[in-house]
Amino acid sequence: MKLEGKVALVTGASRGIGRAIAEELAAEGAAVIINYNGSREAAEEVAAKIQEAGGKASVIQCSVADPEAVEAMMKQIVSEYKRLDILVNNAGITKDNLILKMKEEEFEAVLDTNLKGVFHTSKHAARQMLRQKAGSIVNISSISGVMGNAGQTNYAASKAGVIGFTKSLARELASREIRVNAVAPGFIETDMTEKLPESAAEAGKSQVPFGRFGKAQEVAKAVCFLASADASYITGQVLHVDGGMGM
Ligand code: NAI
Repeated sequence: MKLEGKVALVTGASRGIGRAIAEELAAEGAAVIINYNGSREAAEEVAAKIQEAGGKASVIQCSVADPEAVEAMMKQIVSEYKRLDILVNNAGITKDNLILKMKEEEFEAVLDTNLKGVFHTSKHAARQMLRQKAGSIVNISSISGVMGNAGQTNYAASKAGVIGFTKSLARELASREIRVNAVAPGFIETDMTEKLPESAAEAGKSQVPFGRFGKAQEVAKAVCFLASADASYITGQVLHVDGGMGM
């Protein structure tokens, strides 16, 4: 197993892509901390499933948009586990609207979770990883942050911001061989894409060279690779998992 003995935190891991990432990291031997914001039951179900399969998992509540709550969460993790090897910044929201209708609150809420959330967790994780002189951070960006998407100025700005953040932090931490990379998924079958109207889903598929949406596990495999020593000479990269959409 690739991640035996490693401790990993996955934000927003009670469902969707985050859940698949938590399950994949645990299957590779990592002790996985499942962060959730509101859905305690769903998070506990993910942890139970991992434990039933012989893996290690625990749950922790925190909104990544709240800097004080993140500080408390990271302190608790370091005090319990004594280390943090892998941070996966997966938590994300959408509040889509065309620019003329986009409300100040919609823009801010998306930036607060998707971009500032990554800043909050990474800051504390970096401190611990610098102490350990080892670690890997994987940020979940999006094809929207690379290509843009009508109706998603807030979301695309947050996800493009995640890419700039990833490359800058990768440069800051490279001398200690702490790696920071991003994964940019295309359309993936989750609650987020289920909200799309049928016509938008069909239009989406027509833009994908593979002609289908991806599965959460296909994103999880890429994250697991970047988090592991298999990617030991890879930092500051954006790995597209999008069926060829963004090539
Ligand atoms: P989802 O909506 O199913 O899951 C998002 C998770 O983040 C949920 O568990 C939610 O509770 C959690 N979350 C939201 N706000 C939070 C906060 N403040 N603190 C902690 N947790 C919070 O979405 P999905 O599809 O699984 O997305 C996961 C990530 O992948 C997101 O960052 C999303 O932007 C990104 N992504 C998804 C794509 C897709 O097609 N589904 C495409 C490209 C990127």
